[in-house]
Amino acid sequence: MKIATIVGARPQFIKAAPLSKTLREKHREILIHTGQHYDRGMSDVFFQQLGLPLPDFQLAAGSATHGRQTARMLEGIEEILLQAKPDIVLVYGDTNSTVAGSLAASKLHIPIAHVESGLRSYNRAMPEEINRVVTDHLSSLLFCPTDQALRQLKAEGIEQGVHLVGDIMVDGVQANLGIALKQSSILETMQLAPRSYCVATIHRAENTDSPHAMEQILKGLSSLGDTVILPLHPRTASCLEKWKLTAQLGRKGFIRVCDPLPYLDMLRLCHHAKAIITDSGGLQKEAYLLGVPCLTIRKETEWVETIDAGWNRLLPAESLAIQDAYAALSRPAAAPSLYGDGNTASRIRKLIEAYMLTMQ
Ligand code: UD1
Repeated sequence: MKIATIVGARPQFIKAAPLSKTLREKHREILIHTGQHYDRGMSDVFFQQLGLPLPDFQLAAGSATHGRQTARMLEGIEEILLQAKPDIVLVYGDTNSTVAGSLAASKLHIPIAHVESGLRSYNRAMPEEINRVVTDHLSSLLFCPTDQALRQLKAEGIEQGVHLVGDIMVDGVQANLGIALKQSSILETMQLAPRSYCVATIHRAENTDSPHAMEQILKGLSSLGDTVILPLHPRTASCLEKWKLTAQLGRKGFIRVCDPLPYLDMLRLCHHAKAIITDSGGLQKEAYLLGVPCLTIRKETEWVETIDAGWNRLLPAESLAIQDAYAALSRPAAAPSLYGDGNTASRIRKLIEAYMLTMQ
């Protein structure tokens, strides 16, 4: 079987690594990198650390408006698929790379398998929500991380090809946490004691594109009374410049800004953190898997189970709300298994194999 895997953004490298490994034991995988993320720290370093094979095809979609970026990818992916003739196309998550891959494959009548299917925020102002709705409706195989995802697909009339497989990020955390704890020296480099600091990441357009929201978030983070490590996504860095908030950052003694961190450093840093404050999807889940309480600066989340379990809380981008919620943080006694057992990759491989048999 020939599988074309499409990746392009940082979280997709993390999700693709375990599945790529198991697929390549038996099948031919062609890896297509759209070039959505292209900085070394946002892309190359993840391939190295996760043992993800180098891409067979590298597009240079780069950064642009959503339409232009997606269009560039669509054109490039179509050409590759026409040439490579894969049996199935594998896409991950909800980025512009995901929807470009799905559109290209569906127009060529190549079946699509979507990993991390069925998630919804029910907020169509998010580009990711549009990407995942379109991709789910085009996919033949829909791999859901949770029961909730399954129910959400059913509500949209999608029941065929839907499978509950657990979350592929569990595979990633299980495979890499031990390595991270041994190999990363991030705590020593940053001179941090375990549980004495908080890790924050902010990159969603709804926050970064609003100077008021960004100012409030920085104000909130600087008033927690603990050191806050803030690895800056390039989008956030340029917005802080644009909103003239970088000077303010320098004045806030508690916030320590750094470049985006490699996966292993980020895992160890988060594992020992007192709390995580984020607007990322993946990090909310990683916080839960690592047993670290999380505050999410968004109006809604796709990972509702973390909220129900008491490990995550949604907050507006308001400094006092952040400060109060941080002061009130506690670690719930129980952390039920919400996202599967870490065997998601092999489960997906078997389901793809079974599906391809039915197609012969
Ligand atoms: C994308 C995904 C988002 C995911 C995130 C992970 C979409 C719509 N969004 O958002 O779901 O959570 O990736 O990081 O696909 N930039 C660089 N260097 C890079 C990459 C980006 O400088 O290597 C800068 C550019 O200024 C660019 C901006 O970051 O305009 C945004 O990048 P883009 O890939 O468009 O979206 P993300 O915000 O990363």
